[in-house]
Amino acid sequence: MKIRMLLGGAMLSMLTLNAWAANESTAAGQAAASALGSGEVSFKNDVQPILHDYCLSCHSPGGKGFLKSGLDMTSYEGLMKGTQFGPVVLPGNSEESTFTKLLTGTNKGLKMPFGLNAAGTLDRQYILTLRRWVKQGAKNN
Ligand code: HEC
Repeated sequence: MKIRMLLGGAMLSMLTLNAWAANESTAAGQAAASALGSGEVSFKNDVQPILHDYCLSCHSPGGKGFLKSGLDMTSYEGLMKGTQFGPVVLPGNSEESTFTKLLTGTNKGLKMPFGLNAAGTLDRQYILTLRRWVKQGAKNN
């Protein structure tokens, strides 16, 4: 019984992989592929719209995230400057960058966007986009 379930699981994941491969040729597949690993993330086209919708309400001059931490994300320069304590983006290292670390619930205490409960996080797709941008060197592209 157990083995059958395992086999069933393996079959299912193969089917899912095939579906993914088939998808690559469509426009939606392309967008998914770009969120998942291939293709370069653009600061202007991909990152900034996310910051605009989910971060700037607090992280622009006068906002409470800015007042508390000094982090102003209205521009590339502001984001790279970080908080009053230093950078939040370490180019190439999305695991250690506070900018991307605080998006998931793995950090006790602080989570961004601020005020979301334990179950609430930024859309996974957006988290992946921000992480990939950092991994690719956090370029002003
Ligand atoms: C509702 C307001 C609000 C929103 C929206 C918000 N933040 Fe914040 N953010 C804060 C506050 C307040 C602090 C200061 C927290 C503290 O120091 O206790 C902060 C601090 C930070 C810090 C610095 C943490 C540190 O101490 O090093 C980072 C990085 C950060 N936010 C990233 C983000 C990102 C990325 C987004 C959007 C996905 C976001 N925030 C959205 C309010 C917000």
